[in-house]
Amino acid sequence: MEEDFKNLTLEFTDDGAIAIITMNRPKALNALNSETLQELGAALEACLEPPETMALIITGGGEKAFIAGADISEFKGIETAFEGREAALGGQDAMSSIAAMPIPTIAAINGFALGGGLELALACDLRVASPNAKMGLPEVGLGLIPGYGGTQRLPRLIGEARALDLILTARHVGAEEALSMGLVNRVADNALLEAEQLARSIIKNAPVALGLAKEAVRRGLTGTLNDGLELEADLFGLVSSSKDMKEGVAAFLEKRKPVFQGE
Ligand code: CAA
Repeated sequence: MEEDFKNLTLEFTDDGAIAIITMNRPKALNALNSETLQELGAALEACLEPPETMALIITGGGEKAFIAGADISEFKGIETAFEGREAALGGQDAMSSIAAMPIPTIAAINGFALGGGLELALACDLRVASPNAKMGLPEVGLGLIPGYGGTQRLPRLIGEARALDLILTARHVGAEEALSMGLVNRVADNALLEAEQLARSIIKNAPVALGLAKEAVRRGLTGTLNDGLELEADLFGLVSSSKDMKEGVAAFLEKRKPVFQGE
């Protein structure tokens, strides 16, 4: 199954388990203009429609770029602080929709992931980079600051000092350095293929548990440790009432593979 938009494509693997969004604006290295952000929102909704979708991968079309950032040509039209704020909020909404996806999400970074492009990858749960990937938040070089979540998600992921290094120098990091700082989870010659294998290794686990584990980590990071522990206990309670939990435990004790229903 394939659904077409102007600036991206949405496809599903043959078994329908994995949705793949490919950003596709090659003439601007897949830069995110307003239309693309709108289409992304619609594609995120559409990829959840088939009930069998269990994971989402986002990648870039073409050889050169994942996403080279927000579309810089649109910043020319910004005159007031209000308009700038609206532009940031529009991009943040799209990134937050990715972060809030109830299924695991993976960015397959196959080239430049700069500015809003890296911010999109940061909103995903996991990141796989190809050896030629170049990542960075170059906004200060444009007289801007990261506005699609980079100042918040990057330090939460790699720590304040490393995040400030990248944000203040505006430098690009390659795949190996990104791996060493925890910015990406894996480096592989074919990032998309590796992302698919990673998704397969995740979705063999219980779907209810996957959704709740993700929620525990994501929501837990927004509060104190004690709040997070309380949240974990609540969600442990919730997962304990799932059929998947009964199946997983029974399968272990009966020495067989579990068959999860996502209930
Ligand atoms: N917005 C709009 N157009 C872009 C773009 C962007 N972010 N990035 C690249 N393009 C366009 C170029 O203008 C060029 O178009 P033309 O052929 O019409 O001139 C085309 O894509 C190819 O790009 P280059 O010729 O520059 O390719 P290159 O290989 O020489 O350089 C690059 C590649 C290093 C990625 C360079 O294109 C670049 O630096 N791009 C901008 C990266 C950037 O600054 N991103 C941050 C944007 S601001 C942001 O994202 C704010 C935020 O937080 C929300």
